[in-house]
Amino acid sequence: SPWRATVLTLFPEMFPGPLGVSLAGRALAGGLWEIEARDIRASATDRHRSVDDTPAGGGPGMVLRADVLAAAIDAAGIGPERPRLLMSPRGRPLTQARVVELAQGPGPLIVCGRFEGIDQRVIDARGLEEVSIGDYVLSGGEIAALALIDACVRLLPGVMGKEASGTEESFSDGLLEYPQYTRPQLFEGVPIPEILTSGDHARVAGWRRAQSEALTEARRPDLWAQIPPKPANRPRRQK
Ligand code: ADE
Repeated sequence: SPWRATVLTLFPEMFPGPLGVSLAGRALAGGLWEIEARDIRASATDRHRSVDDTPAGGGPGMVLRADVLAAAIDAAGIGPERPRLLMSPRGRPLTQARVVELAQGPGPLIVCGRFEGIDQRVIDARGLEEVSIGDYVLSGGEIAALALIDACVRLLPGVMGKEASGTEESFSDGLLEYPQYTRPQLFEGVPIPEILTSGDHARVAGWRRAQSEALTEARRPDLWAQIPPKPANRPRRQK
């Protein structure tokens, strides 16, 4: 069966959303992956279908009830082989390495938080792994879930063409991408760097590597610190 994302949300109408078009949308229509958005509110039990309540100990906002969310998770019928994620700004930062793992498995259950948070007891009792997509706060987990699913889907077999199959891009070698150019040869008086039109593939590769390294050092010292130092310059063969 195809890779599947099961999403628990109070706003199921947000899915597939932008994943219904372009690369991911074509793959979805082609049966290469599936998305199931399930409404947490369907598991509410009281007369007003309430899903949240005031925080114990006081404070602003509302907290998603443990009993309602646990019932929604249990009703989704997720086997033990599927990761259970909770999108949250306090989660472990999402990395390309985790995306690759998730894409290689059967596909995750993704709980989308809303309000000020969700009852800690359901996180613990259902073994939810909290995942953040960055150090900023979204109004809910849905847009974070869409980002995570997009990152996984583009890695599924048959989704991307053979071009750039995930190896020759940012993070596969721990470096940021080098700059790209295409026609016209002159744009507002600025030419394409001469090396790129020289036809010398070794010089092109060397230039790109140097550009990637310079960008990574300038913009992402955290990534740059993880790159092993280069061996000392060896003498080059003459042509
Ligand atoms: N929900 C709200 N903000 C988030 C973030 N930065 N990452 C993941 N889920 C979130």
